[in-house]
Amino acid sequence: MKKVLVTFYSRSGNTAEMAGMVANGLTDKGLDVTLKPVEEVSVDSLSGYDGFVIGSPNYFGTMAWPVKKFIDESVKYFKKLDGKAAAAFTSEGMIGGGGDIVVLDILKCFLIHGCVVQGLTSAGHFGPVSVGKPDERVAKEVDVLVEKFASLVQKL
Ligand SMILES: Cc1cc2nc3c(=O)[nH]c(=O)nc-3n(C[C@H](O)[C@H](O)[C@H](O)COP(=O)(O)O)c2cc1C
Repeated sequence: MKKVLVTFYSRSGNTAEMAGMVANGLTDKGLDVTLKPVEEVSVDSLSGYDGFVIGSPNYFGTMAWPVKKFIDESVKYFKKLDGKAAAAFTSEGMIGGGGDIVVLDILKCFLIHGCVVQGLTSAGHFGPVSVGKPDERVAKEVDVLVEKFASLVQKL
C-alpha cells in the first residue's frame, strides 16, 4: 500500500480541518495515510512516504513559519525525495489574500526536492484554498485534489 503524509500547521483550526478532509479522502482511495501536525513530523521519516500533502495558513502571503522550518530542515534529505508526489493547500482570511501564492511557495520547495506535482484543471488551480472555515466549495476542491493525487501516487 502506498504511504502518504498529510501534514499541516494550524492555529485556529481551519487548515487542520482541511487536512482532515484530505486525509479522509486519500484513505478512502486506498492509501496508507499518516495525518500529523507539522510540529510532530520528523524529517527523518520523509523517505518512508510515497507522497506528501502539506497545508499551511496564509501568513502574509506565504506559509507559516513552522511549515517553513519543517521544509528547511528537510534539506537533510535533499536528492533523497526525488520522484515522490507532492501537493499543497491553504486557508486564508480573505478572498484575494494571496492563497495561490502560499500553495505555490510550498509546491516550489517540493519541486526543488525533485517531487512530482499534479496540475489541476478545475477548482483551485494549484491546490485547495479555503477562506476561513472550509465550506462546500472547498470540499469540492479537496475532492478534486484527492482524486488526482491518489491516482498520481499509484502511478509513481
Ligand atoms: C500572522 C498572520 C498573518 C496572516 N496573513 C494573512 C494574509 O496575508 N492574507 C490572508 O488572507 N489571511 C491572512 N491571515 C489570516 C489566516 O490565514 C486565516 O485566519 C486562516 O484561516 C488561519 O488558519 P488556521 O485556522 O488553520 O490557523 C493571517 C493570520 C495571521 C495570524
